[in-house]
Amino acid sequence: MPSADEGDRPPPRTFGRRRGRPLRAARDRLVEERLPALAIDLGGEGPLDPMQLFAEPPEAIWLEIGFGGGEHLAWQAERTPKVGFIGAEVFVNGVASLLRHIDERQLDNVRIHADDARPLLERLAPGSIARIFLLFPDPWPKARHSGRRFIQRETLDSLARLLRPGGELRVASDDPGYVAWALAHLMRHPAFCWTARRPQDWRQRPDDWPETRYEAKARQAGRQPTFLRFVRRRHGTIPEAHPGR
Ligand SMILES: C[S@@+](CC[C@H](N)C(=O)[O-])C[C@H]1O[C@@H](n2cnc3c(N)ncnc32)[C@H](O)[C@@H]1O
Repeated sequence: MPSADEGDRPPPRTFGRRRGRPLRAARDRLVEERLPALAIDLGGEGPLDPMQLFAEPPEAIWLEIGFGGGEHLAWQAERTPKVGFIGAEVFVNGVASLLRHIDERQLDNVRIHADDARPLLERLAPGSIARIFLLFPDPWPKARHSGRRFIQRETLDSLARLLRPGGELRVASDDPGYVAWALAHLMRHPAFCWTARRPQDWRQRPDDWPETRYEAKARQAGRQPTFLRFVRRRHGTIPEAHPGR
């Protein structure tokens, strides 16, 4: 059982750096000028209905956690303009990159949480998300860092609470250890059902799923990515939000 002190401690960081090379002036300006209008305000109390973040309520809300440079999110947002997108990313250079995609493609269906995704997960209303993407999360391959992996029982509880029944969770990784970890946690979780029927289903990326920057890097390095799709069961626990996280 954790001591009172341990209970108060923030969860371990699941990410590496928050900043990379200094942003060029133009990107810096983009973040300063464009982010405030698209950023999600987590102030206030009570569940946050993501439909309210958009001028016109979208048909559904999709969430990408750790969107990196935002190429996948921008591609999805352009392809499905009636869906409202929420992207969460701590890496400021990645946020700037997504803002550039948003401007270039003139997207008005994207909102951004430029910080740790986990407090956002706690605030979003239960059943409010139709699809969640977690693509090439940092693998933290050393056993002693396993607490930093994004997939943990607690985060899966949060994702299960957010996903509407029949909603989809997509996870990809090029790290065999992370794939085994993700599968073990997801198969054990009562709310998720793996959709794969044959090896092709996890070896081949579906057509509505563009390559991300990390997938390209993995392939160049000779690593084979794995693509996992899970459906939120209609029955199965929807745990309460974890207070204080
Ligand atoms: C290995 S990169 C993959 C980026 C992108 N999904 C891709 O496939 O190219 C993992 C990303 O997740 C972000 N990340 C890790 N933990 C996060 C968290 N708790 N909240 C938001 N972003 C996170 C990191 O900053 C990093 O950009």
